[in-house]
Amino acid sequence: MNSTAPTIWDPLQLGPTLLKHRIVMPPHGPHYGEDNQPSERMIAYFAERARGGAAALGVEATWGWRAGGALREPARHVNRITTWERRVIPAFARLADAVHEHGCALFVELGAAGVNDKGRLAIDTWHPVWGPSAVPSPVMNEHVLELDRAQIREIVEDFGQSAANMRSAGADGVEVHGAHGYLGMQFLSPHFNRRSDEYGGSVEQRCRFLIESGEAIRARVGGAITVGLRLTYDEFIGDAGITPELADEVVAVLAATGLYDYYSISCGGYHALRWSIPAMGTTEEGFLIPYAERAKRIVGDRAAVFVVGKIRRFEQAAAVVAEGKADVVALMRAQIADPEYVNKARAGRSDEIVHCVGGMECFVSAFVLNSGLTCTVNPAAGRERQWGHGTLVPASPARRVTVVGGGPGGMRVAAVAARRGHQVTLLERGATLGGHLDLLRRLPSRGEWQLAIDNLARPLARLGVDVRLGSEADAALLGAGGADVVVCATGSTWDRDGATPGRPDRATLPGVEQGNVVDIGTAVCRALADPAALGRRVVILDEHGTYWPIGLAELLGQAGVEVEIVTRNQVVGEELRQTMDQGWVFPRLAKLGVTLTPAHTAEQLDGTDLDLRGIWGGTRTVHADTLVLSLLRSPDDRLYRELAAEAAATATASGGTTLAVHRIGDCVTPRAAGDAIVEGERLGRAL
Ligand SMILES: Cc1cc2nc3c(=O)[nH]c(=O)nc-3n(C[C@H](O)[C@H](O)[C@H](O)COP(=O)(O)O)c2cc1C
Repeated sequence: MNSTAPTIWDPLQLGPTLLKHRIVMPPHGPHYGEDNQPSERMIAYFAERARGGAAALGVEATWGWRAGGALREPARHVNRITTWERRVIPAFARLADAVHEHGCALFVELGAAGVNDKGRLAIDTWHPVWGPSAVPSPVMNEHVLELDRAQIREIVEDFGQSAANMRSAGADGVEVHGAHGYLGMQFLSPHFNRRSDEYGGSVEQRCRFLIESGEAIRARVGGAITVGLRLTYDEFIGDAGITPELADEVVAVLAATGLYDYYSISCGGYHALRWSIPAMGTTEEGFLIPYAERAKRIVGDRAAVFVVGKIRRFEQAAAVVAEGKADVVALMRAQIADPEYVNKARAGRSDEIVHCVGGMECFVSAFVLNSGLTCTVNPAAGRERQWGHGTLVPASPARRVTVVGGGPGGMRVAAVAARRGHQVTLLERGATLGGHLDLLRRLPSRGEWQLAIDNLARPLARLGVDVRLGSEADAALLGAGGADVVVCATGSTWDRDGATPGRPDRATLPGVEQGNVVDIGTAVCRALADPAALGRRVVILDEHGTYWPIGLAELLGQAGVEVEIVTRNQVVGEELRQTMDQGWVFPRLAKLGVTLTPAHTAEQLDGTDLDLRGIWGGTRTVHADTLVLSLLRSPDDRLYRELAAEAAATATASGGTTLAVHRIGDCVTPRAAGDAIVEGERLGRAL
């Protein structure tokens, strides 16, 4: 580092916008929009991150083109946001005001889906899908029509109108979306752009769409707001698509125009979206920094360069700026997980940062399920109005609270209750905290779940929670323990009854009582201790499509065990498809020779012979030294039932108040860790 190098806390002039420092949150879609406009939920979500210290926030890929998402039709895809209509200005103005209150800038991304659009997004809407060329999306399976010149003109004019609208709303800038597979990127990509007119062919001509977009925007807003461009530096489809070398040329052409104040370097498209938002256990942290460095060398002082991509540690972010590799660091999921990331880092409290684990709940909830973004490690994400900054009130009266179970829900309720002033004891019968996560984290590529455990465990000591490991709680102990409140967060156990909703004709799997049948939790424990313990050929029968059977298969496969995963679902690992883990882990499984058998049920196990039946027909018998059941889980609620019955009986006998008994998390009904954490938060606030 030389003495003139900027630090991450130095301000930066970006066109007319002065960033107060160099950490921003890049554009992202929490999909909280209502009627295609920012909603109150969305405003509160963004305001929280502005309050937490971000220098600028990026609003999602809004539809900047009137036809880019069927949005001119009356029945709209309502939670996506438009910018080309003037009617959205008041809602954006409220958003801009809320963000500005904290000295934070607001940049709005302008996008159009191009080939990754859907002809029909909502009831009674349909339009053709248009792209630079008639090259279809790898995921939408729709025929594509080539945009004509008049349509291209309409798009760039709409981008100009969008920029003017955003300026009227008080936004500080717009960012044209040239990344992640959207239209701007499609024009740059040799795969998607096969045009022979002035918009295709040479790099200069491929850049024409983004140059005309920049010109149309500048024609409407001049230098009054900041104008940036998001770029994919590698499409990750080899020479068929955008390579870093091609991206270098693109940046050189665009930088020469002087149209854009900054270039935000990202990667991936719909062929390889798993690179754009990498899940846990995949890419290195900060894996795009070398690309930003290349771009910065080309751009020089003509514009700023932003970098994104799994940057989690503040030290890494600070080094990027200090070493001149990029001017601005974009932390996306890091600031979903902890809206106060920046303030904590600035105050030297990096050790208090709640870290993103890459579990992908944000992506699945916002994009796949389209239900509005939620976050595994931050239950307040999207619920800022109820649980955001300043909403926690001191307990009155402060009571003695005993939490039984040190899983995610138990740890969360303990911390929230303690923060409110209750005197909290946490009893965990095992030797470690974390519940199911403590086992999951031991599977290949799942180590980052340890961060989730650390996120939850770290505050307990600070808040004075009396954590007792190796403490088995029973009703008698708790009754005598002097607690006012007991919270049962005792988790769940894996089912091993062999029942499956896929076989309503029978209550169990014949042979399930054999000694060579184990549930997945037990199987993982045994395999971790000795990968040969389950035999030379293991069959995993999977009901739910989560990571557990996949992780076990990899663990065993690495040790040379032959593994087959059988599921009645149409694909193995359905959840992994949603989280985009599939593209990372399935090639590893293939290398290890793991057999994936979807659309099959198990008929019976006879010794080591397992009969399988194809849902669409056919039977075969496979060898299974061990059959692992990866079925559902059932609540471990025995303690809760005992305590609740005792409390009810005492209340009747004494007519007075007694021990208050609650249950949360898997102890109510087994679900994902994030749901248990939400319940812990909710109860902790209610006690
Ligand atoms: C839920 C979610 C929504 C996103 N929406 C957008 C979007 O609308 N536009 C965009 O350019 N990038 C979007 N992204 C990508 C992020 O801006 C960012 O590039 C990516 O998450 C990698 O950064 P990170 O590792 O810091 O999370 C989204 C990411 C997530 C997780």
